[in-house]
Amino acid sequence: MANQMDFTKVVAHAKEYGFVFPSSEIYDGLAAVYDYGQLGVELKNNIKQYWWQAMVQMHENIVGLDSAIFMHPRIWKASGHVDAFNDPLIDNRDSKKRYRADVLIEDHIAKMEEKIEKEVEKGRKRWGESFDEAQFRATNQRVLEHQKKIDEIHTRFAELMNANDLDGLKQLILDLEIVCPISGTRNWTDVRQFNLMFATKMGSVIDDSDTLYLRPETAQGIFVNFLNVQKSGRMKVPFGIAQIGKAFRNEIVARQFIFRMREFEQMEMQFFVRPGTELEWFKHWKEERMQWHQALGIPAECYRFHDHEKLAHYANAATDIEFRFPFGFKELEGIHSRTDFDLSRHSEFSGKKLQYFDPELNESYTPYVIETSIGVDRMFLAVFSHALKEETLEDGSTRTVLSLPTRLAPYKAAVLPLVKKDGLPEKAREIQHLLMPEMMVQYDEKDAIGRRYRRQDAIGTPFCITVDNDTLNDNSVTVRHRDTMQQERVSIDNLLNYLRK
Ligand code: GAP
Repeated sequence: MANQMDFTKVVAHAKEYGFVFPSSEIYDGLAAVYDYGQLGVELKNNIKQYWWQAMVQMHENIVGLDSAIFMHPRIWKASGHVDAFNDPLIDNRDSKKRYRADVLIEDHIAKMEEKIEKEVEKGRKRWGESFDEAQFRATNQRVLEHQKKIDEIHTRFAELMNANDLDGLKQLILDLEIVCPISGTRNWTDVRQFNLMFATKMGSVIDDSDTLYLRPETAQGIFVNFLNVQKSGRMKVPFGIAQIGKAFRNEIVARQFIFRMREFEQMEMQFFVRPGTELEWFKHWKEERMQWHQALGIPAECYRFHDHEKLAHYANAATDIEFRFPFGFKELEGIHSRTDFDLSRHSEFSGKKLQYFDPELNESYTPYVIETSIGVDRMFLAVFSHALKEETLEDGSTRTVLSLPTRLAPYKAAVLPLVKKDGLPEKAREIQHLLMPEMMVQYDEKDAIGRRYRRQDAIGTPFCITVDNDTLNDNSVTVRHRDTMQQERVSIDNLLNYLRK
């Protein structure tokens, strides 16, 4: 029987086993900034590689880019970030804590959604096998009442956000009787806008013209290189440019570990299409990105789409792929149809025409853009938190296991000599060196074999290869599978092929 861990255990496990450390910990840490340890960096690299392979290697019309973090400051004026990359903030006067007004409302809605899920759970328990969930959701009185309230809040919330109505947002918080989680009071200040970009200075002259921003998204580096890549790569629309890189946001409500960080990494792809075809491509990328997630073997019910009610003024469609994190369904990836907004704005602000001559149509136009954008760290948290389980075994003992998808696991195999004598360590080292050029392999000879298996389970190693006395005679090893704990004998000559499969 396997139980998913609660969130505090996920954070503790990540630290204990060298996946994620708080940044600058010996100086008491730096809020919402994290370092990846020896195993974390492997998992993170594997996630990036999985994305790059799917997006760049598997699409002949998508190419990569690595643009600089520092960019000309006018880029952020053109993109709209200087004027509009804001969060609506509200303070509680009693606790002196600061919150995002929209997040307070979204959390309130999430709690109401939980109530619906509890009703559904009750129904399932009550009706057992004959439970018809769809019918229950459509007819149960309590569920319908909760849903009606949620829909009303959603509509009002979307209208207020679209109108940028800060007083209205405060009123909604008061009307919903939302209290500060720390002080428990409703003693709220007015809602104010707060820009999320970090500013710094370049060069030695201090005046306004030197103000640079740390990029809050990697996407703009792609837009400003559109012509460079299109011309030098002789790319034909439709084509995409993909990039993985750091982004920085001065998040005010930075919490939930690596879910919302001030320094994080994004994997973004901008796909340039003919105007008028963008909604078809939006649908295409929505499906393709969902398939990418599900190909990891994580159950489909852990994902859902959330179509945006509040569309940015430049977008004509947008959706989030949400994941069921330990704290509920939250955004994992965004897919946006951004029209020709970005290229047009950069044309206007730079004075350089960012257009494409379409030989088939014999005309020039500004391509429309579909964007797929996912945070590496958020993806890390999704797979890590889903994989971490506490299992009760048949003999009543428990084990902690990190059932990561094999392709993402930091180490693919561990080589373990049964004892530290009789030539077994030497043989195990031989096997380690046989596998090392192909995959990350760990060697471990310390402690009893059972404890070593547990250590590998806890870091997600899919295969343990045990070298015993028979190995020296029959040239074979025991391979133990992490998830089933089943063991089988495999010839060393076949071992590489076996693991590759
Ligand atoms: N270029 C579009 C863009 O940046 P976004 O929805 O603001 O869109 C895209 O961000 C993705 O980046 C999110 O779905 C999330 O995975 C990740 N992300 C955004 N802010 C983040 C933060 N503060 N910490 C970690 N990941 C973040």
